[in-house]
Amino acid sequence: MSRIFLRKTVAQVQRETETSELKRSLGPWNLVFLGIGCIIGAGIFVRTGNAAALHAGPAVLLSFVIAGIVCAFAGLCYAELSSTLPVSGSAYTYSYTTIGEFAAWVMGALLLLEYGLAASVVSVGWSGYMVSLLGDIGVVVPPELTGPAGYPKTLADGSTITTVFNLPAFLVCAVLAGLLCLGVSESAKVNNIIVAIKVTVLTAFILVGGFIILSNWSTFAPNWDPFIPEATGKDGEFGLSGILRAASIVFFAYIGFEAVSTAAQEAKNPAKDMPFGIIGSLVACTIIYILVSIVLTLIVPYDQLNVPDPVAVAVDAFGPQWAWFASTIKVGAIIGLTSVILVLMYGQTRIFYTMARDGLLPKVFARVHPRTRTPWINTLFVGLAVAVAGGFFDINFLGDATSVGTLAAFAIVCLTVIWLRRTHPEIPRGYRVPFYPVVPILGILSCVWLISTVPSHVLIFFAYYVLGAVILYFVYGMHNSELAKGHDVMADDELPMFPEDAPTDAGGRPVIKP
Ligand code: ALA
Repeated sequence: MSRIFLRKTVAQVQRETETSELKRSLGPWNLVFLGIGCIIGAGIFVRTGNAAALHAGPAVLLSFVIAGIVCAFAGLCYAELSSTLPVSGSAYTYSYTTIGEFAAWVMGALLLLEYGLAASVVSVGWSGYMVSLLGDIGVVVPPELTGPAGYPKTLADGSTITTVFNLPAFLVCAVLAGLLCLGVSESAKVNNIIVAIKVTVLTAFILVGGFIILSNWSTFAPNWDPFIPEATGKDGEFGLSGILRAASIVFFAYIGFEAVSTAAQEAKNPAKDMPFGIIGSLVACTIIYILVSIVLTLIVPYDQLNVPDPVAVAVDAFGPQWAWFASTIKVGAIIGLTSVILVLMYGQTRIFYTMARDGLLPKVFARVHPRTRTPWINTLFVGLAVAVAGGFFDINFLGDATSVGTLAAFAIVCLTVIWLRRTHPEIPRGYRVPFYPVVPILGILSCVWLISTVPSHVLIFFAYYVLGAVILYFVYGMHNSELAKGHDVMADDELPMFPEDAPTDAGGRPVIKP
């Protein structure tokens, strides 16, 4: 038992922070932008349509409120942990430092769903918008190559085909993995530009759509009648259970806000800026999401929204004079989704890298290419896995599995706050969650509650996945852990969020210790 609770020490983590070589360059608004950059993606551009069409109808906006509140509980807990243990690692490091190695291992497995699988979901969303944009300029991708293996797809002429493989989703992952291997990753400046594009596109959608709706209110108002479609009797299909089910779907749209906490070592004033960055980006996205879903469900009858590109479908309904705007939306969505895939894959490779340095994964995952200075084998592995998942699996299954894994990870983060307060009440905390222990307890309960609304086949997959991870720990991780061998691996395994903040050698290349 004592073996699986083996921990990295809090003192060690705090000491390393004092000697960190990273620049403290990020102010509160940089952190909000960093959050929004990771948050806005396939959740709002793609999954909202499915959630409204099949589960909640126009009441999907209530689902956004519910999912936003669940994230706020977890977000406050992330803020406390990141101001107490300001390492630039992730929830994996928090677990390793507090609960112990076994919890860290499980967290690593959950983060693979949160980052790796989420990247696949976003790649499928990317494919939907790309196929649609190519169609606009007369390039037809064979429909069989635009969906998961063995799924029926109804074409514009009413005929039905069976899809074989999602080629665009596969290709975008492969290309981005190649770029990551070459050392291309997003800088803070590029992140800010992409956030501006995403927010502008969605704001324009809200303003133009809102104007059209208000000037033709009698035409569009019936689309909100009923606002909460009557339950069909099947669990999760409309009515109250549908709103909750849709909350677990649109929860995906909020994933990424915790990326703010990974930049704690680069924040100018982590104690104040972390909660501001996390809660600020959550609030901004919640407002945008609610307004987008209001326009979406008023412009298009909700039952027509189960499409790969619902926002573009809504713009088409603005009228023929807005055709150019539909293309602009698609281009904006594609740029935004590309950056989210890149950031998620980057995050996944860094988690594997840290785990490999800790001895919990084979050392090959930490091998750095001498020229590009990137963990290239790790990146190729992640890229291939993400591409295959995006190429062959259904977005709804992938999205639900991502939500379940992330909700479980958030629940552990909330538990970590309670754990650390009990075991280390004395260490200074720049920020403390309000109403302790109510907030972390509500965080745990609400995450478990949303998990329970996910379909049983996804929960069964999840149970087997976690079981497999646990077995792997006892077969591999436990015996190879560097910490158990008495090695100190913590000091040099932190990588910065933005490459330009990395310590560099004389030639200006980032230093990653071999
Ligand atoms: N929240 C991110 C998205 O919606 C993962 O794409």
